[in-house]
Amino acid sequence: MARYLVTGGCGFIGSHLVERLLADGHEVTVLDDLSSGKSENLPDAAALIYGDVADPLAVAEAMSGQDGCFHLAAIASVERSRDDWARTHQVNLGGTINVFDAARRADPPIPVVYASSAALYGDNPAVPLSESAEPRPLTAYCVDKLACEHYARVADRVHGVPVVGFRLFNVYGPRQSPISPYSGVISLFMSRISRGEPVTVFGDGELVRDFVYIGDVIQYLTAAMTQPLPGAQVFNVCTGTATSLKQLARLVGELMEKDTGLQSTPPAPERDIRVSVGDPRRLMAEFGFACDTSLRDGLRKTLKWYTASQP
Ligand SMILES: NC(=O)c1ccc[n+]([C@@H]2O[C@H](COP(=O)([O-])OP(=O)(O)OC[C@H]3O[C@@H](n4cnc5c(N)ncnc54)[C@H](O)[C@@H]3O)[C@@H](O)[C@H]2O)c1
Repeated sequence: MARYLVTGGCGFIGSHLVERLLADGHEVTVLDDLSSGKSENLPDAAALIYGDVADPLAVAEAMSGQDGCFHLAAIASVERSRDDWARTHQVNLGGTINVFDAARRADPPIPVVYASSAALYGDNPAVPLSESAEPRPLTAYCVDKLACEHYARVADRVHGVPVVGFRLFNVYGPRQSPISPYSGVISLFMSRISRGEPVTVFGDGELVRDFVYIGDVIQYLTAAMTQPLPGAQVFNVCTGTATSLKQLARLVGELMEKDTGLQSTPPAPERDIRVSVGDPRRLMAEFGFACDTSLRDGLRKTLKWYTASQP
């Protein structure tokens, strides 16, 4: 049994991770400011510290006595990073440096597993995107995620912190927020289709994404903590399967046994990059397993949650 700190543990990915860590018999503390997460996402067995990762003292206190830290807290919003640039930078990059800094002050340094993002590939057209593809971040959020990876190398090389990062593609599953830029579209599709309304797709509906089920993501996060790797490595977390928004809408409609009408709105160039599909080979080679939940199965589980959560 180990003691883990999960920053952002009240959010979508964090709350699933907390459940899994508790099920595995670990002790879990969560540091979260509840800005997008909800305390009701958290099982009773986890301790919640209400605090801000941009506050170095709050992070240092939360990190004290832990065996490892999963750092997921971020303002995961391109719009917020445009409208409130300075604050999102303080949280997304400053908060990450605070985590690395607190980790290195322990003796020995505390291992950190953190969430980077596939969004940092920006409009790089080299699909499928491997980890060696050139990052072309288009937004402040993405620049901060890329900088987190650079600082992870500093944490490793200069301060001896064992650290692993994951460039998450479009993670989806139960408890995802409809306003998430990654897979919120799935909840929105479910809500519109259930009301018999047409779903809105950006542009011609041919924006292509790599949807990865939350359960698969959690397996990598936990594996990276138990077998820390040298050199502040980063891995894509993706399936390598391309799904257009049109295909996604049709599949959701089919699972809901409803007709799907489509209407389109103009895409936002900095946000709605046309194709984002990852190459999972490095991930599979290192960890020995794949993101193998099919989109159909993952959507079925998500739909079950969606249906149960409707008033
Ligand atoms: N969901 C995806 O598909 C996806 C893809 C790529 C990267 N990511 C990254 O994964 C991580 C988790 O994303 P998510 O989808 O679960 O988002 P989320 O918004 O559901 O969770 C983020 C959590 O962080 C908390 N938080 C935000 N600012 C904070 C602060 N200043 N101090 C403490 N807590 C704070 C929020 O309240 C929330 O509980 C983020 O780092 C995000 O950038 C997610």
